[in-house]
Amino acid sequence: MTKSTNVNADELNYDKYEAKIYDNDIRRSIPGHDELHKIIEETTREFSKKHKVKKVLDLGIGTGITSEKILKLIPGASLTAVDFSEQMIKGAKKLLAKYKVEYLLGDYSELDFGTDFDIVLSVIGFHHQNDEGKKKMFKKIYNSLKPDGIFILGDLVTYRDKNKAALNDAKHYHHLVENARDEKALEEWAYHHKFLNVLTPIEDQITWLKDAGFSNIEIKYTYLNTALITVKK
Ligand SMILES: C[S@@+](CC[C@H](N)C(=O)[O-])C[C@H]1O[C@@H](n2cnc3c(N)ncnc32)[C@H](O)[C@@H]1O
Repeated sequence: MTKSTNVNADELNYDKYEAKIYDNDIRRSIPGHDELHKIIEETTREFSKKHKVKKVLDLGIGTGITSEKILKLIPGASLTAVDFSEQMIKGAKKLLAKYKVEYLLGDYSELDFGTDFDIVLSVIGFHHQNDEGKKKMFKKIYNSLKPDGIFILGDLVTYRDKNKAALNDAKHYHHLVENARDEKALEEWAYHHKFLNVLTPIEDQITWLKDAGFSNIEIKYTYLNTALITVKK
């Protein structure tokens, strides 16, 4: 069977980072990272007004930047946090020490992460799933949610329109040149984008989300290759 994830944890620069340096670098490297997170907070706030949120799943928790924002809004919820990088989980454990969190170390395309979640999120990690992997994950996530639960997908995407895709890529690299901490960090993040990221057209992903059974599909944010999609079971 071919693997859905195109890299091992130790091939990613995340796996080598000290958490605080990572937190700064990810915000510099992902165009619109802060704006994306503001909309994730708004979405969570709105959702939690109408639903009692008991269980949240973060696929690719990293150092916990995204989940911390969610747990601040719904501190009583229990979080299941998946990551295949021990180094990232170490960072998340520090940041989220006061919350109820279960950590699962492993590849989320391969492990059983459970069911009955109210919110599933994956933010800036799905671009390491190949296209078949993305399709399979959408179905797996659909099955892991409670009825009316939501999936929040923030990621780097591309577009079917090749001109738009090329222009966004050029601007993504420009963003890295303008914002990288130093030349070494620029080299790492440029390598990451050129050789490790599998960007899939957002239009294809919307089709696969529908095929998986999701409704209320909303593209809530786009900026260059960065996008936020929310869907409901
Ligand atoms: C870039 S971080 C994002 C963290 C946070 N959401 C943010 O925006 O800063 C993505 C995380 O996903 C993890 N990851 C990527 N693919 C994975 C997979 N297939 N299984 C488990 N973890 C994965 C990486 O190790 C990394 O820690």
